[in-house]
Amino acid sequence: MGQFLSNCSADALATAAQALKNGSLVAFPTETVYGLGADATNALAVARIYEVKGRPSDHPLIVHIAELKHLDQWISDISEYGIALARNFWPGPMTLILRRSELAKDFITGGQSTVGIRIPDNSLALGLLDSFHKLDGAGIAAPSANRFGQVSPTSAKAVREELGDYLSDSDLVLDGGPSEVGLESTIIDCTGERPRILRPGAITISMIEEVTGVKVANSFSEQSNVSKEESIRVSGSLENHYAPKAKVFLDKHPIAGSGFIALEHIETPDGVIRLAAPKTVEEFARVLYEALRDGDHQHIDSIYVAQPTGDGLAIAIRDRLSRSAKGR
Ligand code: TXA
Ligand code: MG
Repeated sequence: MGQFLSNCSADALATAAQALKNGSLVAFPTETVYGLGADATNALAVARIYEVKGRPSDHPLIVHIAELKHLDQWISDISEYGIALARNFWPGPMTLILRRSELAKDFITGGQSTVGIRIPDNSLALGLLDSFHKLDGAGIAAPSANRFGQVSPTSAKAVREELGDYLSDSDLVLDGGPSEVGLESTIIDCTGERPRILRPGAITISMIEEVTGVKVANSFSEQSNVSKEESIRVSGSLENHYAPKAKVFLDKHPIAGSGFIALEHIETPDGVIRLAAPKTVEEFARVLYEALRDGDHQHIDSIYVAQPTGDGLAIAIRDRLSRSAKGR
C-alpha cells in the first residue's frame, strides 16, 4: 500500500532518505510530475521500480541529484553547451543525457553508454535529495510514478491511484501538493556537437539556443526525429503513452456526453462535460493530466481536446496529447 506522509518536516525527509538507503521506494513531488524514487546505486531497489511500474526493464531511468557538484561522479565528460544548460536551468524541468561514468550501471541506463541526470526544482524533492546525500547517497533514480503507459501523476492522490496496489508497507509517498509545471522534463541529448531534444517540455528550443549560443540539432518536431532504435529506449516517445482510460480525440468537435478540455475562451458545446478551461498555455500544461484523470473518474468514454497552438510549451502539450490519442 505504501505509507503517505503529508507533513514533510526535516525529520520526515530524513526518514524517507533512510528508507531509500534501506532499499525501499519513495514517491516524491517534483515541479514536473511525481517521481517513484529508489537509490540509484542499488540494483535490487531499482528492480522494484520496474516491478511496481510494470515497465520493461531495458528502459533507462533518470538519476536525480541535489546539486551541480554531484554531477561529476555520474558522468565521464560534458560539453561546454551542456555546462551552460546545467548552470542556467538547474534546478529545473530539464534532463541532460550525458556520457556515463562507472557509477551509472546498466540497470540505470538500460545498457546504454549514456545516463540521464536532473536536479528538480521543488523544495521537498531537494530536501529529500539533500538528506539522501548526507547518508552518502549518490542519487535517486526516479521515473514518473505511474503504471507503464498511463498518465503521469501530478498529485500524491494520483500516485496512490496509480501505484497504491503495488507499493509495499515500507515504501513511502511524500505529498507536496500539485506539481507546478505538470508535464515531464525536457530531455536533451548532450552527447553530440549540438543539443538535441528527445522529449519536449518547459525548457524550450529558444531557451536552449539563447543560453548555449548553439542551434538545437534537428529540433524536435511533431513528426519525431527520434530513430527507431532510440524510440524503444526513450519510453516516453513510444506511441500509446500518457493515455487515460477514455479515448482521446484531438481538435474535433466534441459529441454530447463526452469530456472537453480547451483554453477558457473556447466555449463548451451543448451537452458536453467541460473538464478544464485553462486561461494560459502554462495552466493548460499544469491541469492537463489531472483533467484526463477526472474524465476517467467520471467514467467518460471519450475526451475531446482543443490543442493550444504555437511554439514553446504548446509543443510539449501537443506531443503528449498526440500520444494519449494513439493510446487506446
Ligand atoms: O520530469 C521528469 O523527467 C520526471 C520526474 C520524476 O523527474 N521523470 C520522468 O521519468 O519523466 P520517466 O522515466 O517517466 O521518463 C524518462 C524518459 C524515459 O522515456 C527514458 O527512456 C528517458 O527518459 N531516458 C532516461 N535515460 C535516458 C538515456 N540515457 N538515454 C535516452 N533516454 C533516456
Ligand atoms: Mg514516464
